Amino acid sequence: MNSDNPKLWGGRFFKKSHPLFQRFNNSLSIDYRLAKYDILGSIAWSKSLLECRVLTVKEQKSIEDALYVLLKKVSSKPDIMLNSQCEDIHSWVEYKLINMIGTLGKKLHTGRSRNDQVATSLKLWCKDSIYNLILYLQKIQYTFILQAEISFKYIMPGYTHLQRAQPITFSFWCLAYFEMFKRDEERLTNLLSRINISPLGSGALSGTFCAIDRDKLATYMGFGDSTYNSLDAVSDRDYVIELLSIASISMMHLSRFAEDLIFFNSNEANFIELSDYVTSGSSLMPQKKNPDALELIRGKTGRVYGSLISMLVLLKGLPLSYNKDMQEDKEILFGSIEIWENSLNIAELVLQTIRINSQHCLKIAKHGYSNATELTDYLVKKGMSFRESHHVVGKIVLEAIDKKSFLEDLSIEVFQKYTPLFQDDVYEKLSLLSCINSKTSKGGVSFHQVLSSIKNIKNKLHENIFS
Ligand code: ARG
Repeated sequence: MNSDNPKLWGGRFFKKSHPLFQRFNNSLSIDYRLAKYDILGSIAWSKSLLECRVLTVKEQKSIEDALYVLLKKVSSKPDIMLNSQCEDIHSWVEYKLINMIGTLGKKLHTGRSRNDQVATSLKLWCKDSIYNLILYLQKIQYTFILQAEISFKYIMPGYTHLQRAQPITFSFWCLAYFEMFKRDEERLTNLLSRINISPLGSGALSGTFCAIDRDKLATYMGFGDSTYNSLDAVSDRDYVIELLSIASISMMHLSRFAEDLIFFNSNEANFIELSDYVTSGSSLMPQKKNPDALELIRGKTGRVYGSLISMLVLLKGLPLSYNKDMQEDKEILFGSIEIWENSLNIAELVLQTIRINSQHCLKIAKHGYSNATELTDYLVKKGMSFRESHHVVGKIVLEAIDKKSFLEDLSIEVFQKYTPLFQDDVYEKLSLLSCINSKTSKGGVSFHQVLSSIKNIKNKLHENIFS
């Protein structure tokens, strides 16, 4: 490579690459996003080269200064390199350095390979993305808590098999999603400990001849440790797969959230109304208000799953160590992380701006005999076995359906036809409030449990912020 030839290799070749192959081989249009990380890795590498006397103090300083100038340029214009002919971002950074400081720039690649370089840059990129994602996940969890506080008395039907099952509250529904996104956050935090290990200094596959202190080098880039086997270090993309697997799980959560809300917002359910901010109209039917934001989250989830499978398939047949197939990892990863980030932010906006039709939710919760379980519990408390009470209540529900009546509107004589265990106190058990507040078990829907969950979560949030 020299200042007018952007290629890192060429000595053993007679002919230039075919332009068709060049376009096929180049990855700059994708991996330019690694510019910042490649430059930071290069600065760190120059420090190690100084320590093992490949560079003098003066040389290292010139390289570092030039790299910082370049870093400033790419920070203000991240796609500055897009019309360059360089093969990839690593070639571009080196090419620019040589352009800036001449032959001295050619010393930077001593003892280093693009194989350990790309693994390092990609891990740094993943680390930064994880920090962002954790923030977005915390924001959405916080919004669920705010909504849970507002809606803790809003009773609505809870479903199994999409059949009305037992009454719940909107608040309780919010707390379910809070738990899911909390687990996603924990998964990311856990992954950070495995990503935080620097591959730099692994060379092409077998290590480097430079007598560098790899642990010290790792600290220059903010890593906590350095890898233990160079062959593995340049071949390893487990962290990409793990990140995409967490992305897939979290998108599945977002997609279920979307599906729930699309149903809640349907004309049939009418439990909520989505805001104009996140819906769109039909070009033909003037009455339509479509839940596009949520449908897109649900739709994009499939693409993220696809990227997880793509990565697994990409790697399954690869011999150790680096193979060019691995260059595909970035296009797969970058797109999916962008989808996940955008979906989290859109989901949060949807949640912040919904209007809950609480009166209608309450009305619908009364239908569908969702208080039938309460009747069985009543009989069990009066001494009947659960199996028998289940059968008896089934018969009563049949009679109520036949009479087009709610359970609570049947007369005491009707109840007593089935068993004399029924007394007048049965009616107070059948109210929705009583159904809700009887679920006092940990994690149950009773107002008391929900309020204490919200309180515990807020205390923990408070502790985390001030710890
Ligand atoms: N652009 C390549 C990638 O993203 C960098 C590593 C290239 N290494 C090599 N030996 N050709 O994977």
